Amino acid sequence: MKKAETQHDIMNRLSSPSLKKEDIVPILKMGTREEMNILQSLAMKIKQERVGRIVYFRGLVEFSNLCRKNCFYCGLRKENKGVNRFRLSEEEILHAAAFAHEKRYGSLVLQSGENQSEEHIDFICRVVEQIKSKYDLGITLSCGEQSEDTYRRFFESGAHRYLLRIETSSPELYGKWHPEDGKHRFETRLNCLKSLKKVGFQVGSGSMIGVPYQTYEDIAGDILFLRDMEVDMMGIGPFIEHSGTPFYRSEAYSIPREERLKVTLTMIAVLRILLKDVNIASTTAMQALDKFGREKGLLFGANVIMPNLTPTIRRKDYLLYENKPCLDEDAFLCNNCLEARIASVGETIGYGQWGDPLHFFRRINHSSSPS
Ligand code: 5AD
Ligand code: SF4
Ligand code: FES
Repeated sequence: MKKAETQHDIMNRLSSPSLKKEDIVPILKMGTREEMNILQSLAMKIKQERVGRIVYFRGLVEFSNLCRKNCFYCGLRKENKGVNRFRLSEEEILHAAAFAHEKRYGSLVLQSGENQSEEHIDFICRVVEQIKSKYDLGITLSCGEQSEDTYRRFFESGAHRYLLRIETSSPELYGKWHPEDGKHRFETRLNCLKSLKKVGFQVGSGSMIGVPYQTYEDIAGDILFLRDMEVDMMGIGPFIEHSGTPFYRSEAYSIPREERLKVTLTMIAVLRILLKDVNIASTTAMQALDKFGREKGLLFGANVIMPNLTPTIRRKDYLLYENKPCLDEDAFLCNNCLEARIASVGETIGYGQWGDPLHFFRRINHSSSPS
């Protein structure tokens, strides 16, 4: 029988100056309630000390599901002909921004599928400028891979954060998750993250847990990747099957669905312990697997939640995965529901604050100081 990990084992492994995948894998594989409790209390101690028990809200507007890509795992992939494609109007997005302002959310996240057309890019810049001219909201974009010039235009329009998950840090696994058509290249994605940092964005990235072919070693690699890339914000979540994709009912699972939430929570805790003052999202996909998935995320070290502000009639058309929560609710209901959920775990909502990750300021001060 495998020996249980003690607090001493976990801290010893994670504080090794030459931390390797092999040190992280046994933690990711931990299973007993006692081991999870130990990990949780280590992560919460650091959360309390470094970022406090405050949850920042980022109102999420899923403004377009048009996507040029064909990721094997995602319900919005171009070849899924069952999707009713849409883009919200400027008015609809501004309406969501007004709601966020009224409710004193610090920030908005504008997310879309990947579309590199000039028209789409102009649209995004215009919308960001308008929101910034009306409201004091921090703006995060999550609009996929774009050229460095485009990222600069986004930044100059007033967005100051960007989310682009690496999805997996293993180039080999990336190849298995995406078609080989030149549009899905690991190198390109990596270069996008570098460009985003160069332009000056606070950069968010992350990966999925439990996608076919993925191993615990791969996930340990993702943790080291996020550390080495000096990412300021993390968004990680369990993979959830979508019937309109090639990865529905795959034979190649290595991490079964029942395990994925636990591994996600473990990864959140390890990231908090290792990276300390980053922002970590408790993602909606966690709630798709467990009614209390997002609360559990907060209790393992996450400090950001993204209440959905997408107009209710469009929510069913933005299904990256099936079984997505809140399809019939509206922004008011989700707001009240989340307030109650957060209070239930003893945390406070950081109303009226942007909630920038301290890690970002440490990173830029460090890189601009003379060596
Ligand atoms: N299950 C969970 N997450 C998914 N994403 C895409 N498809 C799925 C899925 N089936 C995630 C990707 C992407 C983010 C916007 O949604 O990680 O970066
Ligand atoms: Fe498009 Fe993103 Fe889905 Fe890939 S994960 S198909 S890029 S929306
Ligand atoms: Fe949407 Fe609970 S968060 S209904």
